[in-house]
Amino acid sequence: MEIIIQADAQHAVRLVARLLENRVRNKDSTVLGLATGRTMEQVYEQLAGCGASFKQCCSFNLDEYVGLSPDDPNSYRHYMQEHLFTKIDIDPANTHVPDGNASDLKQAAEDYERLIVQAGGIDVQLLGIGEAGHIGFNEPLSSLVSRTRDKCLTPTTRAQNAPMFGGDINRVPTRALTMGVGTILKARELILLATGSAKASIVAKAIEGPITSMVSASAIQLHPNCKVVVDEAAAQHLHGREYYDFVFANEPEWAAYRD
Ligand code: GLP
Repeated sequence: MEIIIQADAQHAVRLVARLLENRVRNKDSTVLGLATGRTMEQVYEQLAGCGASFKQCCSFNLDEYVGLSPDDPNSYRHYMQEHLFTKIDIDPANTHVPDGNASDLKQAAEDYERLIVQAGGIDVQLLGIGEAGHIGFNEPLSSLVSRTRDKCLTPTTRAQNAPMFGGDINRVPTRALTMGVGTILKARELILLATGSAKASIVAKAIEGPITSMVSASAIQLHPNCKVVVDEAAAQHLHGREYYDFVFANEPEWAAYRD
């Protein structure tokens, strides 16, 4: 795992957008794993404006609320349409978001796993982190080998996402269909982005704490090709930053990304 600490959120976002752009430009048919949340909005804005073609790409989103239709303004399908898909040249048929509105969620989950395999697996998976320590919607105690399934959301997560539902936690769905931790770990590369002081304590637990299903994001420690990009605010509780900064400053692979 490599930890890249940037001065502020703007620089962290820019670096992640550049990494993704690089992956898209280097392989015609990149399979992108995408995430939602406020943190990603700026990433998608930059990616949409980078000039790369996504014609041959295909995408799989991490998760979707159960019970929201794709055109519900709070659905993650709607979020993706608004922030990315309608702004790039990706074929809409190649964009995938779990079907949280399916009558048979178990079947929808199995179909999603199959589609990912049929696409050749995910090349690069973008991740945010929830204050409950989740990646996707893998709430505490999610099995570290779990696959796509529906999951009950924690009160912490529902409170964190309530602002998108007019501030009313009761309007936030109680369940979501999410890739599992095991699904995420199958991606060939992981890039986790976290910004802001509200994420500082959970970021430290995920990166430097023990691997535990209580913090599903800690499972990224098991991945052989994982990058974590944070701003100073989100990095404030990290103990090993002297080493992380040294790696970023010296490793040749990062030369193009140092300002
Ligand atoms: C939701 C998503 C997560 C995302 C998290 C972070 O809970 N299911 O995948 O990481 O939001 O959201 P934000 O970027 O708004 O803090």
